[in-house]
Amino acid sequence: MLWLWAVSLSSATLIYALSVPLKDWSSADAHQPDQPGVVRRYALPHLQGWEVQDVLRAAELTNGRVWDTGPSHVDVLFNHPDQVLELPLPAAGSIPLSHPEVLAGSSGKWNLGSLSNSTYHSVYHPLYEINEFMEEMARAYPNLVQLVDLGHTGEGREMIAMKLSKEVELSAHGDGTRSSSVKKAGFVVTGAQHAREWIAVSTAQYLAHALVADASEKFTLSSWLDYFDFYIIPVPNPDGYTYTWESDRFWYKNRQNVGPAEQCTGIDMNRNWGHKWKSKSHLPSYSNITDESGAKNRPDPDPCSTWYPGHRPFEAPEVNNIANFITTLPSLKAFVDLRSYGQMFSIPFSYSCKKTPKDAEDQLEAALGAAYAIKQVHGTVFTTGSLCEQLYKASGNVVDYMYAKAGIKYSYSVHLRDTGTYGFSLPAEWIRPVGEETANMIRSLAGFISKKMKV
Ligand SMILES: *[C@@H]1O[C@H](CO)[C@@H](O)[C@H](O)[C@H]1NC(C)=O
Ligand SMILES: *[C@@H]1O[C@H](CO)[C@@H](O)[C@H](O)[C@H]1NC(C)=O
Repeated sequence: MLWLWAVSLSSATLIYALSVPLKDWSSADAHQPDQPGVVRRYALPHLQGWEVQDVLRAAELTNGRVWDTGPSHVDVLFNHPDQVLELPLPAAGSIPLSHPEVLAGSSGKWNLGSLSNSTYHSVYHPLYEINEFMEEMARAYPNLVQLVDLGHTGEGREMIAMKLSKEVELSAHGDGTRSSSVKKAGFVVTGAQHAREWIAVSTAQYLAHALVADASEKFTLSSWLDYFDFYIIPVPNPDGYTYTWESDRFWYKNRQNVGPAEQCTGIDMNRNWGHKWKSKSHLPSYSNITDESGAKNRPDPDPCSTWYPGHRPFEAPEVNNIANFITTLPSLKAFVDLRSYGQMFSIPFSYSCKKTPKDAEDQLEAALGAAYAIKQVHGTVFTTGSLCEQLYKASGNVVDYMYAKAGIKYSYSVHLRDTGTYGFSLPAEWIRPVGEETANMIRSLAGFISKKMKV
């Protein structure tokens, strides 16, 4: 069963949410596939003295789901079109999410022998089809693809990584210079930790496919297997991802039990990593609004919060499994955490806007090249900078962990398309273009890193 999320755009009319009494929408908390719903954007210049934090808190109180927040806006999903924020604030625009359609599945003949002709990348896939894809890849490319079992999720599902690697071939001319002397570096790519970021899951699979694609294919990455071993984890949060297919399209956290009520299920995996983890990190915060002393005065985290970081780092079994796997891998040089949305290419850190990685210069140089490589394909514009500056300050992020604790010099957080038109409901026909531009980004990053390694 495949769902196509048909989203129709409204004109960006101003909707004035003036002092409407707060209603109890708690029974409509999950976003069912047949629910209409609306996403409203609150733009910072229109906040009339309210701060981003106020909007975030009001959204939680009103049972709105924060889709996205950045230095200039907050996008909030309301499950009912009549719902508004409890603050007397105008929304800058809205996107009604109307009548998603269910498409019949096209499983089976995906034609994985060709990247460009395969039908796999034209729709989103539920977890069981993604597992089929991975097994099919391992069967079709036995010399290049191995599946690695990472352990179990909170609900007992298996977590799987794809290892893509190639035996070094000796040069036909017998000089053997490259083949015998170059040690391959490790390159790790993860899909959506946040369950609703489907495009990140699809793109991770597109990249795996590009890495085995014939050298004659346009977006192939196969030549990079001479320099790198790739480790791709398309679905780091299988329980949450399954939940977005079966119960609530916009679920965010994993699905472990942390409290009594339904929305109190789950930990925000991307706040649960063990570098600068903080128990009180349960709301996005802005360095110029909430300073360190302000953070200390914040209340204890509510397990029902969207951004609940857990009682301790690595409490989420999924985070723990991935961290354990990473520690077994040799010579890791690159890490890319695929996310959505916002079109941002970010270096560490997430936990602080004041601290800068000692490798920031190299990281940023590679990032600028990567953003340019993305633009070359379909004209998509990505911004670059530190994750904290581009998004908000948040502790326990995977990119900080991979850089500072796992020692992966080129660690990035990459928010894929778009900038808020469709948000998490990115239409399926964009899976392939996003895959293509991201493949070119990986090509650029791999090229930069392999050049640096030769020096
Ligand atoms: C893709 O399909 C086209 C048209 O049928 C064909 O010419 C081409 O060789 C195919 N490419 C691959 C890599 O199979
Ligand atoms: C916080 O900083 C950002 C980026 O420097 C700026 O655009 C924004 O207006 C600032 N917000 C406040 C409330 O000062």
